[in-house]
Amino acid sequence: MARIVAGVTSSHVPAIGAAIDNKRSGDAYWQPVFAGFERSKQWIADLKPDVIFLVYNDHASAFSLEVIPTFALGCAAEFKPADEGWGPRPVPTVEGYPQMAWHIAQSLILDEFDITIVNQMDVDHGLTVPLSLMFGEPDAWPVRVIPLAVNVVQYPPPTGNRCYNLGKAIRRAVELFDSNDKVVIFGTGGMSHQLQGPRAGFINKEFDADFLNRIVTDPVGLSRMPHVEYLREAGSEGVEMVMWLIMRGALDDDVREVHRFYHVPASNTAVGHIILENKVGAAR
Ligand code: DHB
Ligand code: FE
Repeated sequence: MARIVAGVTSSHVPAIGAAIDNKRSGDAYWQPVFAGFERSKQWIADLKPDVIFLVYNDHASAFSLEVIPTFALGCAAEFKPADEGWGPRPVPTVEGYPQMAWHIAQSLILDEFDITIVNQMDVDHGLTVPLSLMFGEPDAWPVRVIPLAVNVVQYPPPTGNRCYNLGKAIRRAVELFDSNDKVVIFGTGGMSHQLQGPRAGFINKEFDADFLNRIVTDPVGLSRMPHVEYLREAGSEGVEMVMWLIMRGALDDDVREVHRFYHVPASNTAVGHIILENKVGAAR
C-alpha cells in the first residue's frame, strides 16, 4: 500500500517566490527566511518522497467567484504555474498523478466527503512557493504532486474539524492505493496575516507560537477553534491555517517534530514552517 510518512506545513507568501525568481534570496532581508528552510531541503532530499499531497488555497487564479469549490482535488496529469498578473512564475510545470488522485477522489466521496474533481487547473503561489522552499530551483520537480485546493478566500470556509477529519479520510484513501509510493502531505498558508483593511499588516506572534505547539500536540483541540477566533487572533487571511489541520489529520496522533521555523516579517506576513514525521513508517 502507499503510505503517508510525514507532513510539512509552510506559509506560501508570494514575495518569497518573487525573491527566488528575481535572484534576491541572498539579500539581507530574505536570507533569514531561506536559512530556515536549509534543513528542510536536506530532509526532503534524503527522504525522497514519490508524491506530495499538497493542500493549499487558490487565490482567485484558477477559480473565481463564479465557481467556489470547498475542496477541489487536482486529478490532471499536469498543472501549469498560473499567471497571477505578472506572468507565470518561471518554475517547472507540476506533474500530477491521475491514477492515485482519481483513487483518492473515489475513496473520499464514497467516504462521504463531497470533493470536486478538477481536470484542468493552473496552480498559483499557494502551491508553487512551498515547492520552491522545499526543493529549490530544479529543472523539474522531483515528485509527483496531487493538489487539493481548499476555499479559504470566500466565506464560508470549511471548519477546522471538517479539515481534520478530511485529513484522516485522505490517509485512509492513500493506504488503500495499491503501490509502494511514499507520500508527504503539505498543509500550506498562514501564519498570522491580514492583507487588507484597517488591520492590514497585523501579526500575532503569541498566537502563532501557540498554534505551532498545538498543531503538534493538540490538533483535536485546535480543530474546534471557530473561524472568528482565526480572524480575530490571526488576521483575516490567517484563516488559511485551517488547511494545516488537513495535513495533521493525515498523520499519527503521536508524531515526531523534525524541524520548526518561524520568522517575521516576509512581506507583511509571519512565516511558519514545521516538519512532522510519523514515528512508524518514516524510516528511510
Ligand atoms: C500574501 C499573500 C498570500 O496568499 C499569503 O498567504 C501571504 C501573503 C501577500 O500578498 O503578501
Ligand atoms: Fe495565501
